[in-house]
Amino acid sequence: MRKKRALAVIAAATLAMSMVGCGSTGNGGSGSGSSSSSKNSEKPLCWFNRQPSNSSTGELDKDALNYNKDTYYVGFDANQGAELQGEMVLDYIKANAATMDRNGDGVIGYVLAIGDIGHNDSIARTRGVRSALGTGVETDGNVDSSPAGTNVDGASKVVQDSTIEVGGKTYTIRELASQEMKNSAGATWDAATAGNAIGTWTASFGDQIDVVVSNNDGMGMSMFNAWAKDAKVPTFGYDANSDAVAAIAEGYGGTISQHADVQAYLTLRVLRNALDGVDVDTGIGTPDEAGNCLTEGEDYRYSEEERSYYALNVAVTADNYQDFTDSTKVYDKVSKQLDSSKSPKKKVWLDIYNASDNFLSSTYQPLLQNYDDLLNLDVDYIGGDGQTESNITNRLGNPSEYDAFAINMVKTDNAASYTSILNQ
Ligand code: BGC
Repeated sequence: MRKKRALAVIAAATLAMSMVGCGSTGNGGSGSGSSSSSKNSEKPLCWFNRQPSNSSTGELDKDALNYNKDTYYVGFDANQGAELQGEMVLDYIKANAATMDRNGDGVIGYVLAIGDIGHNDSIARTRGVRSALGTGVETDGNVDSSPAGTNVDGASKVVQDSTIEVGGKTYTIRELASQEMKNSAGATWDAATAGNAIGTWTASFGDQIDVVVSNNDGMGMSMFNAWAKDAKVPTFGYDANSDAVAAIAEGYGGTISQHADVQAYLTLRVLRNALDGVDVDTGIGTPDEAGNCLTEGEDYRYSEEERSYYALNVAVTADNYQDFTDSTKVYDKVSKQLDSSKSPKKKVWLDIYNASDNFLSSTYQPLLQNYDDLLNLDVDYIGGDGQTESNITNRLGNPSEYDAFAINMVKTDNAASYTSILNQ
């Protein structure tokens, strides 16, 4: 059933690629592993969810991604997902323009909650929405992803008004307001801040807001519950957390699944493969002995140059949300237990940058906890405060106790805070 659902939304070109996969030799990833290295700097390392990169320019931190021969990044395809999110909002507007313009002024107004202005995923989503709606302004060849602040009069320089014709009538689309949802202590993607922001926005121009868009479901649900649900204003998020998927029945407009089930599996699987000294593609593009295998081009793509696995995204709307109600369920294709005589128990240190991040705590970590058993990994989960790297690195006091590491940084520039500990 999941396969059918995914197939339905993925373009034909991608489908052709998906023929490469289980049963083939896969993507030829390099690695055979170093199962018994005692040097911490040689142990398998997986960065996940926050890709080592410059938080101002987005440029990948190739040193961190190539830290040793068993280093990988696992995330999802931010641009493909961002495009899907933008299209989802645009499709909704096209189908409902006549009835959704609440004050009948001919302007479809939306507000946008931005997660973290220095996070590639957040930047991509802001660009994706603005590109699809035509409200983006190009600077240096890219759509500007800066927050617009308040733009009720349409005078902002970072966004522009666009027009759309529906049923013979022309509507203006305007980004009425957007801001980074960062709290006073510095935590980003902050749901409570988003709840406050919608309160401020609606108090001054509520009747102009026809759509709410958010870089994630945590902030989206906060705005939905605080206002949009009662006001019957469609709200679009990202992540397909279970609560957001359930809210689709109550008017939440839609969300994007970033295939966290595939990502959580890959995060631990690349470590497992290195620890077992087998090819990195085992159980990924090439079936393992238990029969676990993903489909390249449908579930994920791999970039050897970037040492990165990217899960592919799927739009979740009123049409298909019933298939996504449990975001913590392991993916059928990779749900088989490994044989502990061949893949013996190993110890992994893993951190989550912010123990209260909605997506990571309600979706990603529960999935990791399901897969760690299947992969015979004994994982220590460390939850950070979302603000300081040292809050986490302080708890990597004795790396020699562990066989492998999975790291989710607070700030994507900070890979060296971790590798310097492993180098000691
Ligand atoms: C998710 C956000 C989450 C962030 C944390 C993103 O991929 O969509 O919900 O807050 O990761 O890094």
